[in-house]
Amino acid sequence: MLKNVKVPLSGGRNYDIWIGPVRELKEKLVPFTASTFITVADTNTAGAAAAMGLPEPVILPPGESTKDFAAAAMLCGEAARRGLDRHSVFFAAGGGVIGDLAGFAAAIYMRGVRVVQIPTSLLAMVDSSVGGKTAVDIPEGKNLAGAFHQPSAVLIAPEFLQTLPIRERIGGLAEVVKYGFALDQDFFAFLEDHAGDLTAPSPDPELFRTIIRRSCEIKAEIVAADEHESGIRKYLNYGHTYGHAVELISNFTLSHGEAVAIGMTAAARLAVRCGRISPQLAERQETLLRNIGLPCRIPKTMPSKRILEIMARDKKNESGAVTMVLPSGLGRVECVKFRDHAGLEAVAEELR
Ligand SMILES: NC(=O)c1ccc[n+]([C@@H]2O[C@H](COP(=O)([O-])OP(=O)(O)OC[C@H]3O[C@@H](n4cnc5c(N)ncnc54)[C@H](O)[C@@H]3O)[C@@H](O)[C@H]2O)c1
Ligand SMILES: [Zn+2]
Repeated sequence: MLKNVKVPLSGGRNYDIWIGPVRELKEKLVPFTASTFITVADTNTAGAAAAMGLPEPVILPPGESTKDFAAAAMLCGEAARRGLDRHSVFFAAGGGVIGDLAGFAAAIYMRGVRVVQIPTSLLAMVDSSVGGKTAVDIPEGKNLAGAFHQPSAVLIAPEFLQTLPIRERIGGLAEVVKYGFALDQDFFAFLEDHAGDLTAPSPDPELFRTIIRRSCEIKAEIVAADEHESGIRKYLNYGHTYGHAVELISNFTLSHGEAVAIGMTAAARLAVRCGRISPQLAERQETLLRNIGLPCRIPKTMPSKRILEIMARDKKNESGAVTMVLPSGLGRVECVKFRDHAGLEAVAEELR
C-alpha cells in the first residue's frame, strides 16, 4: 500500500511524497509522463529507472564528481535536443548526486521546469530528495552553486535499497538518527529498539518504509515552516558543523554520513560541556550510532585547530562566530552562537 506525506508550501506549490512498492508507484508517474520528459540516472541506478518504466535515461558515471556545471549544461543540451519545453519534466532516478544535479538542471532549463525525484539511496530517500535544495559542486567547494527548486513529486520505493551497498545504507542512517535525536524522541527510541535490524544484510522493506516515512514527515514539516532556511530549517544541520569539517579534512574518505555521526557526537559532547544535556543522553546517542556501525571518534591525524578553522569559515557563519545546533534534551535542539572557540576545540581534542 502506498503511504503519502504531504509537503505543504506557500503559493499552491504543495507536493506529495509517495512511499511504497514500485508497481504502485508507477501509477503516480502517469500525470508526469503525459508530458515530454528526460530521465537522469547513474550506472548503478539506471536499473531503477527501468523498473519505473522510464525509457532511455541519460546515464552518468556514479559519484560526487558527476555533480558539476558541465553535467548540468550537458543535461540542458540533451533536454533541448529531445525537444523538451517549459511544460516538460525531469526525472531524477538515483542518489543525492543525481537528485541534486537533475534538480539543478530542471531549475535552470528554460528558467525552471518540473522535476520528479525518484531517490534510490537511503540518504536521498530520507533527506536530499525532499526540500528543494539543488546544487552542483565547483572546484572551490561542494554545493557552492545551486537553487531552491521544489520537486513536483517524490516517489520512494524502499525495495531499491536491496542493491544499495551497506556502507551507503549506514551513511543514510546517520541522517535518520539525526532526525530522532534532534527532533523526535519517540522516533529515536524506535531506532534504538530496532538498531540490530537496520544493518541486516537484506533491509526489511516494512521497517525501512516506517523509517523513511517518519524521516520524510519530520523533514517536510520543517521545510514547510521554513523553506529557505532562515529559521528552524537550520536544525537539520545538527551534526553538520563538525561533520563538514572532518568530511573535508578526510578528503572525503569519510562518507558524509560517517562525518555527520562524528559531528553529532561532538555536538552532544559540547552540549554536555555547556550543561545543556546529561552525559547519559550523549552516551545514548553514541551507543546507537556505534550499534549501527557509525564512527564516533575524530581520526587522530586530524588537528583540532584545522577543524576549528573550517568550522569558523563555514558559509553559514557570521564574522568568525560559530553557530552550533545543540541538543537541549532528547528530540529538542537550539542554535547556539560561540564567539569563543576554546570549548569547541576542547571537544575536538576530547573526541579522538
Ligand atoms: N539537496 C539536499 O538537500 C541534500 C541533502 C543531503 C545531501 N545532498 C547531496 O547528496 C549527495 C550524496 O547523496 P548519496 O549519498 O545518495 O550519494 P550518491 O548519489 O553518490 O549515491 C551513493 C552511491 O550509491 C549508488 N546507488 C544509489 N542508489 C543505489 C541503489 N539503489 N543500488 C545500488 N547503488 C546505488 C550510487 O551510484 C553511488 O555510487 C551529495 O552530493 C550531497 O551534497 C543533498
Ligand atoms: Zn547531511
